Amino acid sequence: MISWNPALRGRHLRTMSDFSDEEMMELVDLALALKARKDAGVRGDLLRRRNIALIFEKSSTRTRNSCVVAAQDEGGNAQYLGGHDTHFGHKESVKDSARVLGRLYDGILFRGYKQDTVEQLAKWSGVPVWNGLTDESHPTQILADLMTLRQAFGDIRGKKLVYMGDGRNNVANSLMMGCAKAGVNYVNCTPGELLPDPALVARAAEIAARHGATVAVESDPAAAVRGANALYTDVWVSMGEEAKTAERLRLLRPYQVNMDLCRATGNLGGELVFLHCLPAFHDDQTEVSKDTGAQEVSDDVFEAPFSRVFDEAENRMHTIKALFVSAIGDPAAG
Ligand code: CP
Ligand code: NVA
Repeated sequence: MISWNPALRGRHLRTMSDFSDEEMMELVDLALALKARKDAGVRGDLLRRRNIALIFEKSSTRTRNSCVVAAQDEGGNAQYLGGHDTHFGHKESVKDSARVLGRLYDGILFRGYKQDTVEQLAKWSGVPVWNGLTDESHPTQILADLMTLRQAFGDIRGKKLVYMGDGRNNVANSLMMGCAKAGVNYVNCTPGELLPDPALVARAAEIAARHGATVAVESDPAAAVRGANALYTDVWVSMGEEAKTAERLRLLRPYQVNMDLCRATGNLGGELVFLHCLPAFHDDQTEVSKDTGAQEVSDDVFEAPFSRVFDEAENRMHTIKALFVSAIGDPAAG
C-alpha cells in the first residue's frame, strides 16, 4: 500500500524552496516506494482519470518521457504540448493559457526559458504546476539525483558532493539547494567567470547549517574534490546559450571530470559515484561533440562501474511520479 503525507496535496514545485527539507526527503522516499512496487510487477491506479499537461518550449528526452510513463503507470494521461503546437505564449498570454489549461487539466508541467512562466502558471492555473527546467532552475532533476544518492549511500547526510562546471546554470542552482536541504556537503567548483549568485549561495549555506552541512564555492578542481563521495557535472553550454560555446569550452576545459580528477578525490575504488543529469558529451558520437570529443566528462568515467547516470535517468520517472501522485493522486485507488 502506497501512502504519503496529505500535506503534499495540491502543491507546486517551482523551485527547490517549495517543499520543506523533510517534505523533499518524503518525496524521495515515496519515489523509492513507487519504484519498489513497479519492480515487483504491481501496477497501481493512483492517477486514474487524472490529466496532466506537458508544456515544453525546450527539447527533452528524460523529462518528457518520464512524465508520460509516470502518468500511464498509474492510470493517468499526460498530453505533450510542444513549441508552437498551441497558442501558449504566442497568440495567447501565459495568464490566459494558464486559466484555460487549468480548467481542463489536473496538473501542468512546464519546461522552457523563463522562471516567471512557471510562477505565472502556478498563480493563474488553479492546479499544481511542476517546473521541468527553466533557465534558472531544474528541481525535478534534483529529486532524482537525491534518490540516486540514497540508493548509493542509504543515509546521505554528511556525504560530500562536488559539482564541476558551469557554476551558475539551472542544475547547479537547484542542486546546491537540494544538497543543502538534504544535509549533503556541497562544493560548486567553477571558474571565476561562472560563479553562482552569492545571495543563493548564502541562502543555501544557511539551510545546510541547519543539518550541520556546508556549501562552498571553489575554483581549484583538485582542492575541491578531495574527499568527495560524489562527483556531478552537466553540459558546459545549456539550452538557449549556444552562442557562448567557444567561450565555455575555453573556460571549462580544466573542469572536465576525468580519471585523474576521480583519483584526486581519494575515494576512487571506494564509495565514489559519478552523476550527470544527461544528455552528456562524453565522446564524439553526437552532432554537438563530433569535433570536440568529450567535453564535461571523459568517456572512461561516463562508462565506469561507479557511474550511476542511467539509474539517475530512470529515477527521473520515479520522482516525477512521486510528485504527480502526492499532488493529485487518489490515495484510495491503490
Ligand atoms: N536531465 C534532463 O532534464 O534531461 P532531458 O533534457 O532529456 O529532459
Ligand atoms: N543545464 C542543462 C540541463 C539539461 C538537462 C540545460 O539547461 O541545457
